[in-house]
Formats: sequence, structure tokens, C-alpha cells
Amino acid sequence: MVRWGLTSFAGFLALSAGRTRRNGLAGVWDIPNLPYSVSYLPSSLCILFYPSSSGSMLYNRILITGANGLLGQALVARMSRFPEYDVLATGRDDAPRYEGGSCGYAPLDITDPEAVRSIFQDFAPNVVINCAAMTQVDRCEANKEACWAVNARAVKTLAEACKALGARLIQVSTDFVFDGEDGPYREDTRPNPVNYYGRSKLAAENVAREAGMSKWAIVRTVLVYGTGHHISRTNIALWLIEQLANGEPVHIVTDQWRTPTYVDDLATGIERLVHFEKTGVYHLSGRELLTVHDFAQTIADVFGFDDSLIHPVTSDYFESAAPRPPRTGFIILKAETELDYKPRPLREALVHLGNKLDLPVTSP
Ligand SMILES: NC(=O)c1ccc[n+]([C@@H]2O[C@H](COP(=O)([O-])OP(=O)(O)OC[C@H]3O[C@@H](n4cnc5c(N)ncnc54)[C@H](OP(=O)(O)O)[C@@H]3O)[C@@H](O)[C@H]2O)c1
Repeated sequence: MVRWGLTSFAGFLALSAGRTRRNGLAGVWDIPNLPYSVSYLPSSLCILFYPSSSGSMLYNRILITGANGLLGQALVARMSRFPEYDVLATGRDDAPRYEGGSCGYAPLDITDPEAVRSIFQDFAPNVVINCAAMTQVDRCEANKEACWAVNARAVKTLAEACKALGARLIQVSTDFVFDGEDGPYREDTRPNPVNYYGRSKLAAENVAREAGMSKWAIVRTVLVYGTGHHISRTNIALWLIEQLANGEPVHIVTDQWRTPTYVDDLATGIERLVHFEKTGVYHLSGRELLTVHDFAQTIADVFGFDDSLIHPVTSDYFESAAPRPPRTGFIILKAETELDYKPRPLREALVHLGNKLDLPVTSP
């Protein structure tokens, strides 16, 4: 009990100090169940309170990067449900874009090594979940330096900071590390990316493996869909729903196979990986392998949209796009077995999404 009280209080001090340093504000963090606030504490004093490894601790201090993105928001919602996690969400914006989630927030651009060092010193995380990335595949192809800076180089900064602190890094990665010739893939298949985004994400995986951290995990995922608040980038399901609801025609590929992943399930899987303190590579995606066109047809069917608006095309229809791997998708047996990961069936996930969007479901 004494240890819990001390650690908990120290976590709160560090959060308040972090906010004070960055924004000149006193303890205005959204932290439940704490009757007091501390306006200033030097970060050097905060780290005196922290043991350096999670082994002796009763709860985890989780740092989430890219917390305003699709996955970041779902993770904030998921992780802050558990009293044993002390969550600090970070993103490029001055303020959080997600709603709810009882945790602290601090601005952090992961390409700024000094800012990363400062956050690590103030918060002393023992788990870091890196959701920050340049995720637009064509933008990565056109802006290689900017892509490399956030997707690869910044991961080295995070990995080195984790190593110095004995923290666990969970690096979120992608099916685009594979060439898509023979999916669905297991974790031990040799990667061979076909575009720059995939190359940058593979480089980040290699950094996570080779940085010398004793605790790390790579979570690969596939075609993530879901909703969040003021997310900067739409996703396949939201975009299709919007287009079809407005009666707009869409052109969707019939020659790319994926195992689409509902973001809430992905967040649950990552929470389980943190809970079980797993190291290594894990594939977390949906279970059903289907073409993107079939995925669009399923969305039309579940929500009663006119499916004649969905025009089948092949990849070469999008002439200027970066190459995509044709057939990826994951075998998720390892995650099912070791994490008890249970993604919802596709139609059930779409119904769940529809409920969040207040969208009537016609054919569950
Ligand atoms: N979405 C998919 O289909 C998919 C599939 C496979 C793997 N993944 C992986 O899943 C992870 C999460 O992706 P997501 O779907 O949540 O994408 P997302 O919605 O685009 O979120 C990425 C977040 O990273 C932030 N970010 C970009 N540069 C940053 C920087 N320098 N410092 C701090 N934050 C930065 C973005 O900020 P802004 O909001 O300001 O742009 C955004 O909030 C990524 O690693 C991605 O590669 C995604």
C-alpha cells in the first residue's frame, strides 16, 4: 500500500511538473481521484521518486505518442479505463483532440530529440506506445525526408530514450513491410516493402529490435478503420460511409486483399500486450481476409447504401499512386493464443462503428 501511494503521488507530481515546464500552467491535468494539485516541482526531483524498471511496480506509466490520431485516440480511451495505468498522451497539437480519457496530455513532436528527452525526464515512462507516424502512403513517397524523419529517425530517438530508462517500447507497424505476394502473413515472414512508407516502417522495426532494449514489441496491423474526434486523416470506412451516404460514386480495388482492423479491437490488443508484458512481434488485425472492394460492399450492405455506386477497378486505375502490396492480411494465431486477442467479426465491428456514428444499421 505504501509503495502504491508513493508511486501514485510521484506520478502526479511528474505530470504537474511536465505541464508547468511546457506551458507555464499549474496542475490543470485531468487526473481523477486526486484531491490536490502541485503547481511546480523540478523534473530532476520527480525522477528521484521513480524506480527504473516496471518489475517492482504495481502499475505502469504509459506514454502514448501520436495520441490525437485514429489509433492514439482509441488507445487513450482504452488505457485510461484501467486504474493501474498512469497515462500521458502526447501529440503535435497544443491541446488534446480526443474527448474523454482521464489522463494527462502534453504536446510532443517526436522528431524533436530535446522535447523527447524532456518528456522522458519529466514523466519517466516505463511503457512507450509509439502511434505517431506519417501514415499517408503517397505523401511518404513524395516527401521521403519528412517521412524518414518521423517514421524512422524519431523511433531511434524514442528507442534510445527507452533504453536509457529501462522502458518498454511498443512500436506500431504495418502490413506494408511485406511485398503482398503471398499473404496472409505470420510474424516470422521475411519483410520486403514495395514503397517508401513500408521501407520507413521496416527501418523503425529494425531500430526497435536492435537498439539494445531488453523489452520491446512490434505490433503490426492492417487497414485500420474506426472513428475519433477531429482526426486529421479519414480512413477507408469513414470515407466510404460519407461518400455512399451522399450518393457519390467510388472506385475501389478488387486486386488488393487485406484483413481490415477495427481500431477499438486493435487498442484492446495493445492493452493486452502491455498487460502481459510481451516482447517480440505481434500481428493484430481483423480475422477476415477480403478484397478492399468486398470490404466496401459489406459496408454498403450493413448500412443499406446503394452498392451500384461502388465501381470495381484494379490498382493500375490509380496511376500516380505509390505501389501497394496486392495481398497482405495477417494470420493472428499468435496474438489469439498469447494475448487472448479476439477481434470482432467484420459485420459486428461495423455495427459497433455505426452505433458510434448514430448511423442506422439495416443488415447486421
Ligand atoms: N491506418 C492504417 O490503416 C494503418 C495500417 C497499418 C499500420 N498503421 C500504423 O498505425 C499507427 C497509427 O496510425 P493511425 O491510423 O492512428 O494514423 P493517424 O490517424 O494518421 O495518426 C498518426 C498520428 O501521428 C501524428 N504525428 C505525425 N507526425 C508526428 C510527429 N512528428 N510527432 C508527433 N506526432 C506525429 C499525427 O499528427 P497529426 O494529427 O497532427 O497529423 C497523427 O495524429 C502508425 O504507426 C501507422 O503506421 C496504420
